[in-house]
Amino acid sequence: MNQDQKEELNKINSCKSMEDLNDIRVELLGKKSKISAEFAKMKTIENHLKKEFAANLNKQKAELSKAIENKKVELEAIALENELKSSKIDVTRFNTDDNIGAHHPVSYTMNKIIRYFEKLNFKIESGPLVENDFNNFEALNLPKFHPARDMQDTFYTKDGNLLRTHTSPVQIRTMMNQKPPIKIIAPGNVFRRDFDLTHTPMFTQIEGLVIDDEDKISFANLKFILEEFLQHMFGDVEVRFRPSFFPFTEPSAEVDISCIFCKDEKSGKSTGCRVCSHTGWLEVLGCGMVDVNVYKAVGYEGVSGYAFGLGIERFAMLLHKIGDLRSLFDSDIRLLGQFK
Ligand code: DAH
Repeated sequence: MNQDQKEELNKINSCKSMEDLNDIRVELLGKKSKISAEFAKMKTIENHLKKEFAANLNKQKAELSKAIENKKVELEAIALENELKSSKIDVTRFNTDDNIGAHHPVSYTMNKIIRYFEKLNFKIESGPLVENDFNNFEALNLPKFHPARDMQDTFYTKDGNLLRTHTSPVQIRTMMNQKPPIKIIAPGNVFRRDFDLTHTPMFTQIEGLVIDDEDKISFANLKFILEEFLQHMFGDVEVRFRPSFFPFTEPSAEVDISCIFCKDEKSGKSTGCRVCSHTGWLEVLGCGMVDVNVYKAVGYEGVSGYAFGLGIERFAMLLHKIGDLRSLFDSDIRLLGQFK
């Protein structure tokens, strides 16, 4: 090592800060450095000497780079050490930074619904997301090749099971495992082959099922409980039952509430708007008296009962005035941040 090289190494080693080190790196290895000038001489060197000349320069350059790198590690360690010495952490300090997240509107709505029914002594049941055909369709009075199956097309596994298209199979599971009286709700994810403004391939439902001895449960009980429930969720709304069809209930009804978006505060009437397609009504759930074929499938006799099912996202959209269902699954902080 010649005198020049020693001096250069000394310079590196005596650096006190990252800025100094960077200046020296530019000075010793940059475009205007001595070593760059030496490299430029390559063109003028005779061919048979080139190899040795270049090897020598590369070695010098590598030595300098290494020394700079070592110094950098040393300076970083010192900086960290100093920082740790000077900063005190108060572990007893209460975190006033309220950036701690929020309930997702779907969870919020689901919890609100669950809490309501819990107070009425409903038990919470659950079932698997991958269901068999019997529980999801057959036992619910949807035989194979029945056209009503088309409304709930889904994702099948190779062994003939499927991602459940609704929470109704939990009705079957519960009835097969328990004796009446039964009074349950079953929240959970369901799956369908849908994707547009109001449908996503995965969404969330809550199922309700109440069964007791014959003649103990009537449509009047169903009507009362749903009216009370919907007014708890949406405030002072009118509730209307429309005759409808579901294979697993007879009679069946779809339930509407008076539109909360165009309600005239004075008269209390909903006058019609874009959200309710100018009808003044919003459809919110399906329900009915459990069909005898369902009782047959699970081996029940001498009972009566009602069931209902609703989409939680639909409720969340109405409660929070969210226009596009898909935005509930976008994880966009601008939407979700509003629910703190
Ligand atoms: N399972 C139905 C669906 O996903 C919803 C439903 C309607 C559930 C009526 C019920 C019911 O329990 O009685 O479209």
